[in-house]
Amino acid sequence: DATARRAREIAGAHAGRDGALLPILHDLQAEFGHIPEAARPEIADAVNISAAELHGVISFYTDFRTAPAGRRSLRLCRAEACQAMGGAALWREVLAGLGLDEFGTTPDGRLTVEPVYCLGLCACAPAAMLDGEPLGRVTADRLSAALAGAAPC
Ligand code: FES
Repeated sequence: DATARRAREIAGAHAGRDGALLPILHDLQAEFGHIPEAARPEIADAVNISAAELHGVISFYTDFRTAPAGRRSLRLCRAEACQAMGGAALWREVLAGLGLDEFGTTPDGRLTVEPVYCLGLCACAPAAMLDGEPLGRVTADRLSAALAGAAPC
């Protein structure tokens, strides 16, 4: 199909180079917003690895999505300074409030929640980034209020 064909072109542009896999994955994500399932055989072929090895790499890097992102983006810091300020409990509370078992996108496609490892806002821990805007001293209530605000176009 068209996705596989385009993936073959992208993978082919990098094939044969050392360390081609990550640039291929970045280019695919830039084009599709995630790594489409149909692209996987093309990628594996281009860099000569198994489907299982490819899956391992895609799941290791939290930057790579396996499904399209939601309309809004929430990145919650899971690094040390934020964990010391209640970040783990906040993470659980936010996911539970959204009905998510783990990070990812809400079923209605409204919001994608992802971990991030230090936003450089440690002095304002726990920290988050909502639609690219930094938030400090985050609580579940403050997040709900921010989420209720107008979504960017
Ligand atoms: Fe969370 Fe640095 S550890 S912003």
